[in-house]
Amino acid sequence: MYKILKKEILNKDIDLMVVHAPLVAKNALPGHFIILRVDDMGERIPLTIVEIDGENVSIIYQKLGYSTTLLGKLNVGDEIADFVGPLGKAAHIRDVKSVLGIAGGVGAAPLLPQLREYSRLGVKVDLVIGARNKEYLILVDKYKKYCDNIYIATDDGSMGTKGFVTDVLTELYKEKKYDHTIAIGPLVMMKYVVLLNKKYNLSTDVSLNPIMIDGTGMCGNCRVTIDGKTFFACIDGPDFPGEGVNFDELIARQDYYKEEEHICNLRLVKK
Ligand code: NAD
Ligand code: FES
Repeated sequence: MYKILKKEILNKDIDLMVVHAPLVAKNALPGHFIILRVDDMGERIPLTIVEIDGENVSIIYQKLGYSTTLLGKLNVGDEIADFVGPLGKAAHIRDVKSVLGIAGGVGAAPLLPQLREYSRLGVKVDLVIGARNKEYLILVDKYKKYCDNIYIATDDGSMGTKGFVTDVLTELYKEKKYDHTIAIGPLVMMKYVVLLNKKYNLSTDVSLNPIMIDGTGMCGNCRVTIDGKTFFACIDGPDFPGEGVNFDELIARQDYYKEEEHICNLRLVKK
């Protein structure tokens, strides 16, 4: 069992939890994720590792479905049944002099360890962070430690530029150049960031989060198509160069599962 040592409510939908998981903490690198089950009957929830502090692992989750809502009901002192990891491949840290991170919504959580690592290596790091409104901007204070410049976008204009991260990028690229970018957020955001960056010959790493079940390459559920070839996000990723990703296929599959999840949640609420 894995004890919850700290819980922080970041906004009405998103929490941060610090969990005592010494073996995960010992072996984790930026980009790795864990799969947890709240209890023995629980659904598996994959979450990127956000921070390691000694034997403790920070995770951030959005209370979207039944299982993440159940996770959100746990408090400090409670225990999580399973907390397996580190899983996946560590992010490919590139040999560059400047990097731009692009975070959309809760995608700010998996991006943080990668930008922290670039900063630790002496790379110049900037960040564009977007959210639907200022309440949904997360981790900005933590990013301040690692980023030289932070550019904010909110859909409703409640903080920073009114618009999407791509609106900020369009203006930013008029005056600044970067060696490389990492974009993590909704699939549609990553798709349009990659399209925009291609116009500037700028490489984009993305983090893909298709539905995962076993997390070990056995079920095939997390398959993604990159340059016409099939990869499994759980063992080959979740980070990939964005240029060859078939985002439209992934978006269509995600929409299908969202409908199924909605029906399941309705059934569970009725019980
Ligand atoms: P959201 O829908 O509120 O969007 C966040 C931001 O993304 C927006 O404010 C905007 O700046 C940008 N964006 C959205 N649509 C865009 C478009 N069409 N063009 C350009 N930019 C656009 O985000 P959310 O509700 O926090 O959801 C985050 C998503 O990130 C979830 O779908 C989640 O599954 C995904 N996610 C991905 C990973 C990963 O590892 N890849 C990790 C966690 C979450
Ligand atoms: Fe089953 Fe990746 S989650 S193959």
